[in-house]
Amino acid sequence: MKKEIEDIGDIERLVSLFYDKVNQDDLLSVVFNVHAKTDWESHLPKMVRFWSGILLDTSDYRGRPFEAHAKQSEHITPEHFKRWIALFKETISENFEGEKAALAIQRAESIGDIFQYKLDFMRLNKEATDPNLDKL
Ligand code: HEM
Repeated sequence: MKKEIEDIGDIERLVSLFYDKVNQDDLLSVVFNVHAKTDWESHLPKMVRFWSGILLDTSDYRGRPFEAHAKQSEHITPEHFKRWIALFKETISENFEGEKAALAIQRAESIGDIFQYKLDFMRLNKEATDPNLDKL
């Protein structure tokens, strides 16, 4: 049954269901499990703190969310963002409804846009300053 996102238990459910999907997805799971070698025991509670900050106005998340993605810049493409957003929307729409559910999707999309923009900028800059460029 669908419900509103109201408390930390709802966020835990959202995060757990979403990353179950990520782990079953060939494209996304490689980035986490092969390249980043994600420690799920610490990543999931971190993502609960992250989303709870956005959706419940708590302030326990400490981190620099972009850095984790910058480290994987060679492995994360626009395809990955499309799939990530699609799975996130699917998780929300299968389980939740209401204002916070809509806000979660909106924030994921806008953060995704910013990450992609910054990753593009990083890659372009790297190309422009890569000392090996003239050897190619
Ligand atoms: C589109 C919206 C996205 C949001 C809102 C988001 C959010 C986050 C946040 C908050 C973290 C934790 C950063 C930290 O404090 O360490 C994280 C880590 C990470 N994300 Fe994303 N992310 C998004 C898209 C993606 C995509 C498309 C990928 C590609 C597979 C991805 C892969 C990762 C990886 C590999 C980590 C590091 C996990 C680790 O610590 O091992 N993310 N993300």
